[in-house]
Amino acid sequence: MPRRSPLWPAQLDHIRLDAADPAELAAFYAATLGMTALAQADGSLLLVGPARRVVIGGGVPGTQPYSAFRLASPEQLGALRTHLEGQGAALLPSPTPVFAEGAFAVRDPDGRLVAFGLPCPDLPEPPPCGTAALPGRLQHTVVASPRLPEMMRFYEDVLGFVPSDYVHETTGNRETTAAFYRSDPEHHSFAVFRAPQTRPDHHAYETTCWNDIRDWADAMAARGTTLWWGPGRHGPGNNLFFMIKDPQGCLIELSAELEVVPDAVEKRSWPHEERTLNLWGPGFMRS
Ligand SMILES: [Fe+2]
Repeated sequence: MPRRSPLWPAQLDHIRLDAADPAELAAFYAATLGMTALAQADGSLLLVGPARRVVIGGGVPGTQPYSAFRLASPEQLGALRTHLEGQGAALLPSPTPVFAEGAFAVRDPDGRLVAFGLPCPDLPEPPPCGTAALPGRLQHTVVASPRLPEMMRFYEDVLGFVPSDYVHETTGNRETTAAFYRSDPEHHSFAVFRAPQTRPDHHAYETTCWNDIRDWADAMAARGTTLWWGPGRHGPGNNLFFMIKDPQGCLIELSAELEVVPDAVEKRSWPHEERTLNLWGPGFMRS
């Protein structure tokens, strides 16, 4: 079956979070998510753990300057570059030290960079120990935007993310309030919520089962970190989850059982209500 998008397959590889004190934020992520901080030549810190990495740098606190998606091969990366040039997209240098030569980026309507590339072949992978042994693969990132229609057109029509689910108002013109996009069979690698201002919403680590959620929550409890939302089960994606807040208020999600959606499945629609966000209990409404 022909692929519907030159982006297919791609996975979220890492994001960058900025802080006034990057070392302090990095210490939180290292301790809470079992990652090791490695200084980079550009002054940022690369946090690495098993199947997860995050870049933390100095900048406007609480912002997420870029999200970086990993493609399957240099050939696919080249084909995506050609496709985006054909779409008239302005290609920019890759902002991330994680990706090898050949990576590039585009700027979305909210001003955030989206990088595409392949990881440098010599990236370190530290041995697991303690919290680091818990499984949690960096899997998706979600942003909030006051320009949801423009963001949807950019991610869907220009970049080629495949829509899995839209959320709609239930009255009036049934305005879209959120869109979930996949770039491989996992239900979403990126999503965007309608909100009053541009901000990162959350990023998520996919575990292997419900018992991992328990073990992560126990690890959080041992460090005195309380759950901010959940446990629950999302409607779109059908995943089990809980969320905590990092010291800057950015949400971190631990997830399990994320739905697998084959390439050809058409998008579905959910009502804009709390139950869509959490089938089990209270929802976190962004608008
Ligand atoms: Fe999520």
